[in-house]
Amino acid sequence: MDLRMPARLPSALAAGLAMLWLGGAYLNARPQQPSAALSSPVSPDRALVNQYCIRCHNDRTKAGGLALDTADIERVTASEEVWEKALVKLRMRAMPPPGAARPDERAYDGLVSSLEAKLDRAAKANPEICSTCRSTSTTYFRPTMRATGSTT
Ligand code: HEC
Repeated sequence: MDLRMPARLPSALAAGLAMLWLGGAYLNARPQQPSAALSSPVSPDRALVNQYCIRCHNDRTKAGGLALDTADIERVTASEEVWEKALVKLRMRAMPPPGAARPDERAYDGLVSSLEAKLDRAAKANPEICSTCRSTSTTYFRPTMRATGSTT
């Protein structure tokens, strides 16, 4: 009978456990620091976009020419066109593309209505933004305004 194996096993186990313990202590000692760019609390909208979109739509990869990591989803006025486009895709459930992980229906609906509300509010507060958009002759221009029957 080979007596070396049972002797070696416990020491390997102990080493493994020690590493686990040390690893745990290390992680506990370093609470996750939000990066400077995300220093404000992450909203549910931002969290969804981060989870399902920015893998492809970030400032480096820019799938479809669109970066959703740098566009502020809380102050949509600054990147209104970007969020209008995103809203259209989200309404149609056209993004994320087939094969990529996608939100469930509730999350889709929540993000759509939240974006609609933000864009409508932004448009009402800044009517001049609308005229700027209109001149870009895009088919998706201001779907929310059309839907609410606004004439601006
Ligand atoms: C797996 C990669 C991937 C993911 C994840 C993804 N997209 Fe896309 N997206 C693309 C690619 C590639 C294109 C360009 C081709 C196309 O339009 O289908 C695109 C195009 C778009 C466009 C059209 C851009 C334009 O100028 O017309 C929008 C809007 C968009 N995506 C929004 C989103 C949103 C919102 C999410 C998250 C809910 C998302 N995408 C997730 C890959 C992705």
